Amino acid sequence: MSELSYYYTPTKVVFGKAAEHQVGTELEKLGVKKVLLHYGGNSAKKSGLLDRVKASLSENGIQSVELGGVVPNPRLSLVYEGIELVKKEALDFILAVGGGSVIDSAKAIGYGVANDGDVWELYQSKRRATACLPIGTVLTIAAAGSEMSTGSVITKEEGWEKRAYDDDLGRPAVSFLNPELLKTLPWYQTAAGSADILMHTMERYFNQSTNMALTDGLSETILRTVMEQTMIVKEDPQNYEALAELMWASSISHNGLTGFGTDGGDWATHMLEHELSGIFDVTHGAGLAAIWGSWARYVYQNRLDRFVKFAVNVMGVTPEQTDDQTAIAGIEKMEAYYRSIDMPVSVSEMDVQLTVDQITEMADKCTEAAGGTIGVVKPLGRDDMIEIYQAAR
Ligand code: NZQ
Ligand code: ZN
Repeated sequence: MSELSYYYTPTKVVFGKAAEHQVGTELEKLGVKKVLLHYGGNSAKKSGLLDRVKASLSENGIQSVELGGVVPNPRLSLVYEGIELVKKEALDFILAVGGGSVIDSAKAIGYGVANDGDVWELYQSKRRATACLPIGTVLTIAAAGSEMSTGSVITKEEGWEKRAYDDDLGRPAVSFLNPELLKTLPWYQTAAGSADILMHTMERYFNQSTNMALTDGLSETILRTVMEQTMIVKEDPQNYEALAELMWASSISHNGLTGFGTDGGDWATHMLEHELSGIFDVTHGAGLAAIWGSWARYVYQNRLDRFVKFAVNVMGVTPEQTDDQTAIAGIEKMEAYYRSIDMPVSVSEMDVQLTVDQITEMADKCTEAAGGTIGVVKPLGRDDMIEIYQAAR
């Protein structure tokens, strides 16, 4: 196990049917007076969720100001607008009603309000935040894990740069998780969300350190559970129990638990995907599924033991004659699973035909953002990235 491991999850979770009715009570306990109600396109309005949240707030004497319009792969321009609005209205809390995109935008606004200077500099790794306005979430999709995570991923329209900033300061104070809210999701979003949950677990599972049996066991259970429950939702989209499993998996796969006692994991697939969704605006989870197999084939020999363990314990592969064969069988089975939930296993399946110039541009941007190599299983430089993008075409 690594020398030092930190586990810090300050987020209070309110989980279950009608969880959003507790918003007012919980925010009142936090001393909140006036919130920014941040949301995306139309889904939260159409389902009546936004009205229920507003009612709960006003029942507890909490005022709110609205800012909708967050798009998937959330944009920096709206973040700037939110910062101005929060300052002008003297708001003391940001409540994100939506998915990872809305939550990440909320975190960025929170940093922008609480720190001087251009908030984008945090995402450029030029400086660290010293504070963040408190954030709460009413989650509507099981996917990014932003409801408990340190992460916030924002896209700057100029240059289509998609960059992440990770900080404990951005972890939400409270998250309301009502699995019923997942019932209005289109199947593609549910499946992409599951791919993201799987990947948050796998990015940590494939590392270059020693591992604790307990962490491995938790991770393997999360992976098997998410795969099983997603298939149930595919057949029966209104299945509350299955949706509840996915919603909780979203949170615990990305709150740090599955990286405990390790070096933190690889994360190269995520970094390669962020370039892809930054430029082509594809759905993040689908982009991960499209790249993962190509990444895995490129690096697996550097951590053969982990790939064999994954194949046997997670994918149910019967050990083959050689470890190499077993590892490859596990990767192939994972890709077959992605196909079975209608996720792409190549970039062209997302209607993006990558040119050589675009691949070079992504590899250049990724190298620059990382300040060198990405990943730990096999540290990947610019040429390695190009090879993986080529293979994933
Ligand atoms: O905008 P609306 O109308 O709400 O529609 C959304 C959006 O089009 C829709 N949706 C959400 N909940 C719904 C619903 N439609 C019907 N019923 C519901 N209950 O789903 C679409 C996708 O929403 P989005 O918030 O983009 O999804 P997700 O949670 O997958 O977030 C993706 C973003 O999170 C980032 C990704 O890169 C991407 O930008 N990530 C954030 C992380 C973090 N903060 O820790 C980690 C991840 O690795 C990831 O990078
Ligand atoms: Zn992700």
